[in-house]
Amino acid sequence: MTGTHAFGATEPPPALLARPKSAARHLYDLVGAPLRLALLPDAGSESLGLTSLRAERMAAVLVELRGRVLDVGAGDNLLVRLYRREAVRLRLDPVDAAASVGVDVHDWGGGCVIVRSSAALPFGDGVFDTVCFVACLNHIPERAAAVREAARLLRPGGRVVATMIGRVVGVVGHKLWWYSEDKQREMHHEEKWGLDEREMLELFESADLAVEKIDSFVYGLNKLYVARRR
Ligand SMILES: C[S@@+](CC[C@H](N)C(=O)[O-])C[C@H]1O[C@@H](n2cnc3c(N)ncnc32)[C@H](O)[C@@H]1O
Repeated sequence: MTGTHAFGATEPPPALLARPKSAARHLYDLVGAPLRLALLPDAGSESLGLTSLRAERMAAVLVELRGRVLDVGAGDNLLVRLYRREAVRLRLDPVDAAASVGVDVHDWGGGCVIVRSSAALPFGDGVFDTVCFVACLNHIPERAAAVREAARLLRPGGRVVATMIGRVVGVVGHKLWWYSEDKQREMHHEEKWGLDEREMLELFESADLAVEKIDSFVYGLNKLYVARRR
């Protein structure tokens, strides 16, 4: 599996990542909601100046990044690329951004390290400050082992930052998102369309991670989770 076609070759421009959104941007995004939530791929929304779904989740996660980051299920490595691009504006450390890395089992381009499984990753204990799972835990068949692996890779006090849609939003969304990456590959029987909050909390608990924050974004359709290694 190679190529960026499922993700789009461009990056969301800084204006679409700025938070909080201005009143004008809120209004424009609301008027354009049918286009950006269902009809257009991310790059198409962005070309109309609308905040894409990928820009929404990247903006939610970028402000939570601390130190050296591992992004699991990184797709085209957009988060790490944006971390490097936006580090100065967000007052994050460019050296940490440069040392950050994305991993995925498929090669979508963008410079990820390609791995066989997220249950056993090629890094030492406690070497990351933040481990991210952005829109991917539902797609990772070995998700419980992957979250435990994240806990191993985090320094004490380090944090997991994850986004996830619920099951109902996931079933409806994946019918609408004709461009999503799962259409470009075979689905594993253990993949889910989304994970509910209860399932996410069980995953963190089974890895002995303490949940610190749960926020919603995209009109409550998506959730951000932050959990700390004790
Ligand atoms: C919906 S995409 C999200 C990509 C990226 N995080 C983003 O937000 O744009 C889900 C990703 O999970 C990846 N994936 C599927 N199985 C995986 C596994 N076992 N370990 C790591 N990543 C996996 C897919 O290849 C895909 O890149």
